[in-house]
Amino acid sequence: MKFIYIGKTSKEEFFEIISEILNSEEYQKRKKYKHHGEKSVYDHCLSVSMKSYKIAKIMGMDYKSAAIGGLLHDFYYKPWQENKEKKSFLKLHGFVHAKEALQNSKQNYPQYMNKRVENIIVRHMFPLNIIPPRYVESWVITIVDKIVSMEIFLNPSKLLMYVGLKK
Ligand SMILES: [Fe+2]
Ligand SMILES: [Fe+2]
Repeated sequence: MKFIYIGKTSKEEFFEIISEILNSEEYQKRKKYKHHGEKSVYDHCLSVSMKSYKIAKIMGMDYKSAAIGGLLHDFYYKPWQENKEKKSFLKLHGFVHAKEALQNSKQNYPQYMNKRVENIIVRHMFPLNIIPPRYVESWVITIVDKIVSMEIFLNPSKLLMYVGLKK
């Protein structure tokens, strides 16, 4: 009898890479965090992660880091809409959440951190945050994040939401 090894499908492989984080208690809370409008942070990040993984895989990049970085790029502490204190312009959500997401990711999932994952997370808000991404994988997530959030760029009032000027 001849056995043919078909191998893992991309979908299986993708979920294998991200499942520990995705199923963790802390990450599951993001199902209740609203991102922009009605979409949850969980859905948004999963979508960015999956699309980035596919692109990185096809193009021969570090697809594991792309998947993990995509999943954690908006892993900031609290739903930003609940923040009631007045903040100066540069402390608004749009400007600070990438750094917050990196700190929070390092605290919760240190075993998944590497220089690419960290750069993906902390630089994904380019050009709003002016330092550009360093790695090709970081560019993928930065661009995919904008494409997935496209409805925001087509609607000026949502754009203010994206920056964190409006809730
Ligand atoms: Fe973000
Ligand atoms: Fe995002």
